[in-house]
Amino acid sequence: MALVSATEMLKKAREGKYAIGAFNTNNLEWTKAILKGAQESNSPVMIQTSMGAAKYMGGYQLCVHLVEDLIESMGITVPVALHLDHGEYEDALKCIELGYTSVMYDGSHHPFDKNLEEAKDVVAKAHAKGVSVECEVGSIGGEEDGIIGSGELADPAECKQMSDTGIDFLAAGIGNIHGSYPENWTGLSFDTLKAIADVTDGKPLVLHGGSGIPLEQVQKAISLGVSKINVNTECQEVFAAATRKYIEEGKDLEGKGFDPRKLLEPGTTAVTELVKQRIEWFGSKGKA
Ligand code: 13P
Repeated sequence: MALVSATEMLKKAREGKYAIGAFNTNNLEWTKAILKGAQESNSPVMIQTSMGAAKYMGGYQLCVHLVEDLIESMGITVPVALHLDHGEYEDALKCIELGYTSVMYDGSHHPFDKNLEEAKDVVAKAHAKGVSVECEVGSIGGEEDGIIGSGELADPAECKQMSDTGIDFLAAGIGNIHGSYPENWTGLSFDTLKAIADVTDGKPLVLHGGSGIPLEQVQKAISLGVSKINVNTECQEVFAAATRKYIEEGKDLEGKGFDPRKLLEPGTTAVTELVKQRIEWFGSKGKA
């Protein structure tokens, strides 16, 4: 199946009160692991690259080819969208040209007027090519690939203005943070989420910083309009833990255990298992 835009899958998720997992990839193994997890769960999925991860992997064009070719060689039949995560304006335009089927233009660090203006422009260019668009209001806390947000609660009035630009889904700060949550984290602000949902006409909402949010909070957020949940750190953690275990058990020293196809296998399997578990949490299992 060819890559699809995320518009349809997120609309259906919003209506059906479940969420689509958007998993960050970093390399070949992760991309395979995410596709396998989605296929085995019969779930639509979003694979996303940060600007930094795409650069690391060899560029946006390579990411498009990688995902497209794996879909074919692995016989993937569930809907897959390739999405740019936290893109600058120029990067969003580049991805639209090169074959990403979804982009996030993140102008949340700019003055709101500029964020809005550039969002409108990205929407026009993306929609002309059938590409879906996510934008952000109110920065997400924590640090991701050099993008640092101080974490704030988005202003519902600004969310409405952003939603009205014609974007397909909206990321808004509701107390969520990229990376692990600190001990003293007070949890998601459901009042803010509800106020945003009330003024955005059923637009699918996006929850960044999906790693480490307890199940009950995830499910409550979905019930209030969250339809896309981003997960990155938890995949990194399980990959590292499984790889550490393999090496600490001396398996790389047994036979040809040092072969990267063997060395990276436990981590890759761990990512697939996490993806399947999160798909269950998010309720998108069987929704392909
Ligand atoms: P986590 O790394 O906290 O899962 O956040 C991922 C994310 O929001 C990507 O944009």
